[in-house]
Amino acid sequence: MKMTRIAVIGGGAIGRTHAEAIRACGRTELVGIVDPFATGEALAKELDSPHFRKLEDLPSGAVDGVVIATPNALHVPQATALIEAGIPVLVEKPLGENAEACAELVALSDRTGVPGLVGHHRRHNPIIQAAKKAILDERFGTLVSGTISATLRKADSYFDVEWRREKGAGGPILINLIHEIDLVRHLFGEISEVFAIASNDQRGFDVEDTAAVILKLAGGGLVTVSLTDAGVGPWCWDTTAGENLARFPAMPAVSHMFSGTKAGMSLPDLAFWTHAGPADWTVPQENHPLHGLPIDSYIEQIRHFAAVIEGEESSRITLADGAANIAVIEAIRRAIAEKRPVYIDPPTQNAPSKPKAMME
Ligand SMILES: NC(=O)c1ccc[n+]([C@@H]2O[C@H](COP(=O)([O-])OP(=O)(O)OC[C@H]3O[C@@H](n4cnc5c(N)ncnc54)[C@H](O)[C@@H]3O)[C@@H](O)[C@H]2O)c1
Repeated sequence: MKMTRIAVIGGGAIGRTHAEAIRACGRTELVGIVDPFATGEALAKELDSPHFRKLEDLPSGAVDGVVIATPNALHVPQATALIEAGIPVLVEKPLGENAEACAELVALSDRTGVPGLVGHHRRHNPIIQAAKKAILDERFGTLVSGTISATLRKADSYFDVEWRREKGAGGPILINLIHEIDLVRHLFGEISEVFAIASNDQRGFDVEDTAAVILKLAGGGLVTVSLTDAGVGPWCWDTTAGENLARFPAMPAVSHMFSGTKAGMSLPDLAFWTHAGPADWTVPQENHPLHGLPIDSYIEQIRHFAAVIEGEESSRITLADGAANIAVIEAIRRAIAEKRPVYIDPPTQNAPSKPKAMME
């Protein structure tokens, strides 16, 4: 089998996960780590991989694709340069810092035909795939309500890195909530309206540490998300799903509860509750759990990226998806700033969604 040659730009926390996944995938080769700073150089040394200070230092024709795992502000400029050079990209989330820049990137990819994939890795997880299948098979019904907990207490030292404290670049709304937005859109379709409140009471940085967010789905249904990087508790995807055991322990708790017209489903345990008789809260319910094979989503993400590069599969999480997720994040920020609901135009095929003028 042809080995697809992939470089990683940004050798920090998630860059390491990507580099290791490239090594473990079986059909990909790690060309090198591109990073001007000491962390990236140390990672390259540890992995016994070539190290480059900038993209231009990569030998010409040496890569088939690049994973962009740098700070958020660099994603769009680096992806733009790579796509212009004809090189497919896997861009870490968030795709960019604002919807406008993301839309230009989407247009460039459409115009050139050079594909992109966004690092919303959960879509590659068999747990999510099993949940999605139950929805597509019409066993769940339509979404009525959902509760998502993203309780992810980060170590104080995490915030030693400056951009993680900066408004616009850091904060759990952009860094973590965006995974929930992508998941909700993936499972249940577009989001049409948001309302939210945020606080920085615990950490006192410019960015929020906690938020309560309400999402209304275009197809009906309400989802509430409780988000914090300051509060303690096991109820978040990362610390329950066992998806990245090198970084996060897997606690026996649930993080997502979705109620449909036919069934209730929680994640990541894939409990699937239906009434033993009529749908009535006085009637007992039975749990017939769904099943997902234990596959490493980061390795599957790299396998899929290689297949996209080689033209065997089309991108599961397109740049347009990444842009639509950012548009929802922008609407949430606006709802917080203006203390009112914000309505979102549905995305069209080539243009991501954008917040609409609000109703008085
Ligand atoms: N998908 C996920 O679950 C997930 C998890 C963590 C982080 N992320 C995303 O990945 C990105 C990186 O996050 P992180 O936590 O790994 O950050 P990090 O600070 O640990 O790593 C960033 C790396 O980029 C390097 N860098 C800075 N400027 C560079 C440049 N001009 N060229 C090349 N390298 C440069 C830094 O030296 C550092 O090694 C962020 O966008 C973050 O949101 C995604």
